[in-house]
Amino acid sequence: MTNETISARVQRMEWAAEGILEVEFRRPDGGDLPAFTPGAHIDLHLPNGLLRNYSLLNDSRDRHRYVVAVGLDAASRGGSRFIHGDLRVGQIMPISAPRNHFPLVEDAPHVVLIAGGIGITPLACMARRLAALGRPYEIHVAARNPERAAFVSDLRALSGKVLPHFDSEHNGAPLDIAAIVAKAPAGVHFYCCGPGPMLAAFEAATAGLPEGLAHVEYFKAKEQPASTVAPGSFKLTLAKRGETIEVPADKTILEALLDHGIEADYSCQDGVCGTCEVKVVSGVPDHRDSLLSKSERESNKTMMICVSRCLGDHLTLDL
Ligand code: FES
Repeated sequence: MTNETISARVQRMEWAAEGILEVEFRRPDGGDLPAFTPGAHIDLHLPNGLLRNYSLLNDSRDRHRYVVAVGLDAASRGGSRFIHGDLRVGQIMPISAPRNHFPLVEDAPHVVLIAGGIGITPLACMARRLAALGRPYEIHVAARNPERAAFVSDLRALSGKVLPHFDSEHNGAPLDIAAIVAKAPAGVHFYCCGPGPMLAAFEAATAGLPEGLAHVEYFKAKEQPASTVAPGSFKLTLAKRGETIEVPADKTILEALLDHGIEADYSCQDGVCGTCEVKVVSGVPDHRDSLLSKSERESNKTMMICVSRCLGDHLTLDL
């Protein structure tokens, strides 16, 4: 990871809902942090050596703090378990500057935000921004039960309509996303962040919309990482360095670069954060990330080197 980091202190931790902790970071010297836009996330370089991305949920006009929320994942590989069990107020850790691969269209005629569980975080930030701009929006907040729904009262204090859906009050049935999309007028922008089944339902419900109206953010890869799906080997030319290396069948581009001692930016290694995005000079990428839109994939201008590979035997990247 070659990204520059910022030293940040855990200023505050607060219980937000069952299994969800809100964590606020500030600079130890009290100075400003880099600005961010709704939908942005930061990387936390946790003291246990893990690196995790979390969406910012506070008002994007805040310059003195970043606020994230962390859901305790029963299948945690150490990130959320550490934050819930070991992180303490006052600890200082490196964090990244914000990056945004889930930007908000601020002048849409109407915005429908659909949040599932901890997926509320980027959408809460978007709701704050739309309210501040006086733009029309509604936010659907889905959770298994009311106890697991975070930030509902904060959202109710804003101008947009808040529409909670608790599975426990509907015989376990999830939010009917298809019905929400079907009844929305033309030109509405939809944003969804939540667990995999919700995102799959969202993508199915919005498949017929014109491109650019449905926006989705994945926490986890929607496709299997390249390193586990029997890829072929290919040659990789690094245009800036003037070097060509081999990417073996059982390694990602990122792994091949690191094996050759070549530094590259990366974070999630799962195709969901965008840190490793690189410009393509020539060749055709085999896109396997969960970030690029259909038109971005088809343009082949950039690719995520932690998971994507090459359709062919030679790729040249702007490295
Ligand atoms: Fe996150 Fe590649 S490192 S998308």
